[in-house]
Amino acid sequence: MDIDMSVKPFVKWAGGKYKLFEQIRDKLPVELNKGEIKCYYEPFLGGGAMFFKLVQQYKFDSIFLSDLNEELVLTYKVVQQNVFDLLDYLSQYKRKYDKLSDKDKEAYYYEMRTSYNMQRFNVNFNKYSDFYIPRAAQMIFLNKTCYNGLFRQNLKGEFNVPFGKNFNVQIVDANNLINISTILQNTELRCTDFSSSFGNLEKDSFVYFDPPYSPVSKTSNFTSYCKDSFYYKDQLRLSNLFRKLDKSGAKLMLSNSYVENNDIMSELYDGFCFSYIYSQKTMPSIVSKRGKVKELLITNY
Ligand SMILES: C[S@@+](CC[C@H](N)C(=O)[O-])C[C@H]1O[C@@H](n2cnc3c(N)ncnc32)[C@H](O)[C@@H]1O
Repeated sequence: MDIDMSVKPFVKWAGGKYKLFEQIRDKLPVELNKGEIKCYYEPFLGGGAMFFKLVQQYKFDSIFLSDLNEELVLTYKVVQQNVFDLLDYLSQYKRKYDKLSDKDKEAYYYEMRTSYNMQRFNVNFNKYSDFYIPRAAQMIFLNKTCYNGLFRQNLKGEFNVPFGKNFNVQIVDANNLINISTILQNTELRCTDFSSSFGNLEKDSFVYFDPPYSPVSKTSNFTSYCKDSFYYKDQLRLSNLFRKLDKSGAKLMLSNSYVENNDIMSELYDGFCFSYIYSQKTMPSIVSKRGKVKELLITNY
């Protein structure tokens, strides 16, 4: 595969692991370096930071990527199948945006957001069509220009993030998108709940799970990336799946939050290996005195 080694996520995504990869690298299974891992699975794909790092360093025979967010997966599919048409739309939006005053840029953002939300009723998420292409371009445009690159939907499924006021943001990175499209040619992309992401897992597989982080208590939900929230019951389903997949002999790694004096994760993953990494996040309620947030990495090796 002839690709530039600096491919990076094409959307900003909450919980993105791009900056944490150097710490995660130390905890990867040794079998990766030995060339013994042939299949890669990432069932909470998000911005795909881990995938993009790994695919530039290791060779896999099969790659299975999935996420429950249908708008995100639609956009990945367009990058995979129609990247040049996508770039045409995105460049059109960018040219128009660049010509506007700051005030008009904001108005353009809200126009785009309204059109994106209105058109959602015309999308058949189960069947790829040309209609996906302008929608994916809108999704990337909104991701770049909205507040903090958040993707948040209300219960009706409307994208409701306000304008980010970042007037000079880079909206089109053509080389990156083209390289990503090349990488995605050899991957299977699916929109599905994590529980349906696996067939028969072979032991030469590596799975990286990066779910929405653990709730602080068993009754609260913690993070919502799309209209479907991730509750304690989902963390429980996930830990049961982790135990089941462990029996296949595949190598498994899972990220989650570390919450002091809270043993939800130690209960759910009792018997597996726990290690810690540190992120610089701006979530005041969980930032420690040093301004770093401790995060968990759980592995079955
Ligand atoms: C922490 S983010 C992943 C971030 C990603 N690792 C990155 O670097 O950008 C969690 C992802 O899980 C997805 N998700 C939430 N519930 C899910 C479910 N039940 N099954 C599969 N994916 C789900 C969200 O849409 C979100 O993209």
